Amino acid sequence: MNTRCFLSIFFILLNLNFISTICPKGTIEGFDPKICYKFFGAPTDFLSANITCQIIGGNLASINSAFINEFISQTLKDSLADPTIKTWIGGTKIGSTWTWIDGNPFSYKNWAKGQPSSGNCASIDPSQSVSNWYSNDCQTNMPYICEVSAAEDPCSVCPTTTSCPVSVCPTVSPIPVCRHGYSYFSQWNSCYKYVNAPLNFEAAENYCINEGGYLTSIHSPDEQEYIDTLSHQYGDGPYQAPWIGLRDTGNDLSLPFWFWTDNTETTYSNWYPGYPTNGGGDSGCGDMITSGSPWNNGKSYWENDNNCDQTRPFICKQAPICGSG
Ligand SMILES: *[C@@H]1O[C@H](CO)[C@@H](O)[C@H](O)[C@H]1NC(C)=O
Repeated sequence: MNTRCFLSIFFILLNLNFISTICPKGTIEGFDPKICYKFFGAPTDFLSANITCQIIGGNLASINSAFINEFISQTLKDSLADPTIKTWIGGTKIGSTWTWIDGNPFSYKNWAKGQPSSGNCASIDPSQSVSNWYSNDCQTNMPYICEVSAAEDPCSVCPTTTSCPVSVCPTVSPIPVCRHGYSYFSQWNSCYKYVNAPLNFEAAENYCINEGGYLTSIHSPDEQEYIDTLSHQYGDGPYQAPWIGLRDTGNDLSLPFWFWTDNTETTYSNWYPGYPTNGGGDSGCGDMITSGSPWNNGKSYWENDNNCDQTRPFICKQAPICGSG
């Protein structure tokens, strides 16, 4: 085995729990890719800095190795207009013991000469070649740096083979991946979620839009059946009547009588006999009665004469977040 190949395998073994991760928006990936950082330039006291870091889901940064110290130092040099300004990190003295706010052991230390002295909160001075730490009065105002854990990247996959040469890893998933909580239906290369938390039509639509899609449209018997099955799986009771993306345009005859909120075609339909109706004027919002109801011989169907203010569970639909179908 050549050296390069050996090193590649060594690298893979090092990262055996090789789940690729992704940093939250607005943070930068750290030396350890599972830890991300966000710098805040507006000077504040230690306690406020601590709270802001917790609000974004993290902590003031801890530094557990010279590598991380160097990484943070570089990041600060790039971020600070004046790199001689000290920056809060997550070290704090409790009793007589220095600890990291995130619970990491305070094993690696990089105090400047004569430090720590007075003051119970730690800062780093990135202007020095080794970027030493100082103890400071916690009331001092200075910039600060937060750490946040990276989330698992659902779109990245790694080859499981250790044969050489090792391909670039991770790679974007070649198979479609749905956003968390969504199920994939290959026939329509789409992802669906039954949300069992009743909302009115508009709020349900906004929920789906916020997640990157719309209330579901339905375009074929197999898609209808898939959504019916999903509803039985996630809904309560023998049958459900969730909102789907069906609207009618009431009395405005210049518009198509009914439409999907995602603007897709209306060639397929599965109306209850006699529907669609113009029962609700402008408040015609559509739901799907799932199979197993006492009506329509127990087959699923659509109706559109609901007041849009009713609250119902609902079904969102969106494209896969990566991969191609
Ligand atoms: C940081 O903030 C959290 C949440 O407000 C608090 O529980 C904790 O005591 C704070 N830590 C320090 C060292 O101020």
